[in-house]
Amino acid sequence: MCGIVGILGREPVAMRLVEALRRLEYRGYDSAGIAVLENGVLKRVRAAGKLRNLVQKLSDADLQSTIGIGHTRWATHGGPSEANAHPHIAGRVAIVHNGIIENFKELREQLQHRGIQPESDTDTEIVAHLINVALEEGATPKEAVLSVLEELRGAFAFAIIFEGHDNLMIGARRGSPLAVGHGEGEMMLGSDAIALAPFTSRITYLEDGDVVFLTREGFEILDGERRHVIRPMQFTQAASLLVDKGGYKHFMAKEMHEQPDVLGHTMSEYLDFANGRVRLPELPVDLKALGRMTITACGTAFYAGMVGKYWLEQLARLPVEVDVASEFRYREAPLDAGGLSLVISQSGETADTLAALRYCKARGQKVAAVVNVPESTIARESDVVLRTFAGPEIGVASTKAFTCQLVVLAAFALAVARERGHVDAEREQELVRALQQVPRLVVQALEQEEKVAKVAHELAHASDILYLGRGINYPLALEGALKFKEISYIHAEGYAAGELKHGPIALIDEKVPVVVIAPRDALFEKTVSNMEEVAARGAKIVLITDEAGAMEHGAKAFETITVPAADPFISPLLYAIPVQLLAYHAAVFLGTDVDQPRNLAKSVTVE
Ligand code: G6P
Repeated sequence: MCGIVGILGREPVAMRLVEALRRLEYRGYDSAGIAVLENGVLKRVRAAGKLRNLVQKLSDADLQSTIGIGHTRWATHGGPSEANAHPHIAGRVAIVHNGIIENFKELREQLQHRGIQPESDTDTEIVAHLINVALEEGATPKEAVLSVLEELRGAFAFAIIFEGHDNLMIGARRGSPLAVGHGEGEMMLGSDAIALAPFTSRITYLEDGDVVFLTREGFEILDGERRHVIRPMQFTQAASLLVDKGGYKHFMAKEMHEQPDVLGHTMSEYLDFANGRVRLPELPVDLKALGRMTITACGTAFYAGMVGKYWLEQLARLPVEVDVASEFRYREAPLDAGGLSLVISQSGETADTLAALRYCKARGQKVAAVVNVPESTIARESDVVLRTFAGPEIGVASTKAFTCQLVVLAAFALAVARERGHVDAEREQELVRALQQVPRLVVQALEQEEKVAKVAHELAHASDILYLGRGINYPLALEGALKFKEISYIHAEGYAAGELKHGPIALIDEKVPVVVIAPRDALFEKTVSNMEEVAARGAKIVLITDEAGAMEHGAKAFETITVPAADPFISPLLYAIPVQLLAYHAAVFLGTDVDQPRNLAKSVTVE
């Protein structure tokens, strides 16, 4: 995934930028570049491939500038060529960017109407041009950046420098991470503290929506409402930076907030935004001839598999069986040789999932694996690896790995549906566009954190909690309950909303809160009826829905949490957020060991 760095320093910065980029290599990249202000003029050096290619080019350049920005690029809009590598320059502006600009096509057309023809296929260059146009119209760099940020839709982080301004660097974040580093008479920007570790251990983490203006002497931050704010400076331990909490109290909090960024990166691997197409590695089976498929996984990954089943059956008309791996491996399921199995695992080491994979292979099935750790045993033993790009997940309760698994499964289902002729090019474009909005909508869902925390504190007093969901959001009810019990140690169960009256309703009284996950979709009224059944029995309802759902039925709930309205296709990705936040804040309130809950392990390598 892309990494950003910027240094406003006292010594030549070119090789220091490279040093910082080297520390961002772990995020993965396929090209790199830097831009500096050499004698007041923007100079850029970029190279496709590894950093050594960039270093080679820099050795001929002899750059002495003390201000510059750098980037490792993970291709999203446009292939991994030198022309698409960052920084992008337009007139007096050089910019590096991590994230996705959703409305870049409209913005590019606006520029083309003005006679401006971008050189690259990237969304980033469009931003550079927009800022440059504003400068040419007389705006100051600060005004130009603030006005252009208003026009952008999507999730992003930027570092920007300007010709004619040797003591100014501007950073901005919405969704993607960005940190400010404090040196001696110098200031820096980086995607994370790890990038800046060689130069400083004093870090200020920017919050979502923040814009920062750096000079060598100091900095100024405006928040999303463009009010001056002070964000705390923290000392980070260089030695432990690879497992740094990034200014959050727990890894789980950090990992939840990384979701807009890592979802964007996982998507960019599987979706071609420019053409509205899904692109998957070749699968070693004839998808058209496939009669059924099995998905196996454990824990949270199993619930991701359940969502995958809904997508595959609805979109691709492919019958899917989902099983917990520990059951599947012993139930002697008959499998057709030449068929396809999918295993899902964050760690890629879970013993039961690995055994399920081996069971499938032994019966002549081809196995595709959705894994987060590419060097893992499951990745090595499967025929095709569909990697999630969640980055290291430290918190035992899986959050970002889960939503990244969902992205891969959505892309997978869409690719299978296209191959089997159930989705035409137009529908594919629509669904890719819907997915493209996920990072931004996840940012919005995370903005509800304060409200969700309040509700979580109420739930923390309960001894039992029920989660209800229907259709594709039923697995979310299961995942919500699992998260809650895992880290708060409060008993919680997830049920299909329609199944309530066949048993669990006997548990309901005023002491059992019920969390209802119900977007305003085709099944909404049905779920609301189930909600009324429990409300009539005195249960306190927490309704998680969108604005329309809240307007219609919020009054029946004790508390309502709203999630941005979206295409029902992507709703599991958005409803995952409040579900995670609820569990997290209840656990923090109760003072449990959030990141390492009792009795649980991150990677379960025993049966
Ligand atoms: C453990 C973890 C869960 C995880 C499950 C599967 O139980 O505590 O958070 O969902 O294993 O792990 P995997 O690495 O295979 O996704």
